[in-house]
Amino acid sequence: MNDNTILIKNALILSPNNNFENKEQSLLIKGNVISEISEDIDDSNVDKIIDASGKILLPGFINTHTHLSMALFRGLADDLSLDSWLNDHIWPMEANLNEEYCYIGALLGAVELIKSGTTTFSDMYFYMEDVARAVDEAGIRAVLSYGMIDFGDAEKRENEFKENISLFENCNGMANGRIKVFFGPHSPYTASEELLIKVRQLADEYNMGIHIHVSETEKEINDILDEKGLRPFEYLDKIGFLGPDVVAAHSVWLSDNEIEIIKKNNVKISHNPCSNMKLASGIAPVSKLIENDICVSIGTDGASSNNNLDLIEELKTASLLQKVSTLDPKALSSDEALAMGTIKGAEALDLDDEIGSIEVGKKADIILIDTNSANMVPNSSNLSSNVIYSANGSNVDWMNRKSMKKLEKLLKN
Ligand code: NI
Repeated sequence: MNDNTILIKNALILSPNNNFENKEQSLLIKGNVISEISEDIDDSNVDKIIDASGKILLPGFINTHTHLSMALFRGLADDLSLDSWLNDHIWPMEANLNEEYCYIGALLGAVELIKSGTTTFSDMYFYMEDVARAVDEAGIRAVLSYGMIDFGDAEKRENEFKENISLFENCNGMANGRIKVFFGPHSPYTASEELLIKVRQLADEYNMGIHIHVSETEKEINDILDEKGLRPFEYLDKIGFLGPDVVAAHSVWLSDNEIEIIKKNNVKISHNPCSNMKLASGIAPVSKLIENDICVSIGTDGASSNNNLDLIEELKTASLLQKVSTLDPKALSSDEALAMGTIKGAEALDLDDEIGSIEVGKKADIILIDTNSANMVPNSSNLSSNVIYSANGSNVDWMNRKSMKKLEKLLKN
């Protein structure tokens, strides 16, 4: 790492630590860290100056639930229920995956993420060391987990632990610390009780977080009720699986008791509205979760059930979905949505001391949004509204054009 300095001048800084109050300021980056924020920074000794006049500067977005390599399956199976989508289409195709497919899929996904403003994502999939290779080359930040599925088979279970632990040993801290490894038990309906209990024990031992799908569809609730006599979060609580290091994707079908359980265990939620709407899974009670001080972040899910990785579109959808489902236009405001896409994602991944806001000492994971575009004019005084309701991922002004060209060339080869 070098200590090159970059000065970004006259940006409209929008950050959760300032309650998204719009302030025109300059920002100095030393190496990969934000070293100064003020109205007037001396530019005589800096290596590079970027004039960001009229541009909105935000923390890079954080996508807390993806299956990046599934970018390869974009558009291959649409307009289906989750059950049929998985069993008849996705799982048979996944049986043919290999290292190279997962690497290329992850690289493609990483280009889409970076260009639309996401600088960190949390991924659960297969061939994750090849995904790590793509993350390293793309220059993005990631939390990686291997999707563990045993369906009660002891031999398979052992293999899944080997995979996830070797991913941890080979990749945790890789890419100059940009890669962190979590356990990825797929869900309470594909992972046995034995697997889940062992994940909890090893997560404590290795100090690793846990990424899991929970309560995505009504069918899942009914199946677990039939098998365990409890709803998914009640069952996970009973076996001692839950904790503040658990990120539960979806969490659509929740009883009041389960919301209490989530709160008590400080479980983090990854809300995936586009995937939930496209697969007609249901509407997560996000406003109610936030009212209960539960950390709700945002995820796109894989590009085959979304079908893109545009986090601005995801945040707008999240906001609109809460408004229409509660019949309250004040539900999930643009400020709350922006927090979901930034600091709440950082909290979910236990990275909030490093990323998620624009503060001195934090990593310079930042993006600029160009307001000089028809859909951003007039640039209202409420910038968070402009970002969430008017912008889309293509308004992100990606700064490092040279490295992006290199990535696109890699993809073409
Ligand atoms: Ni998923």
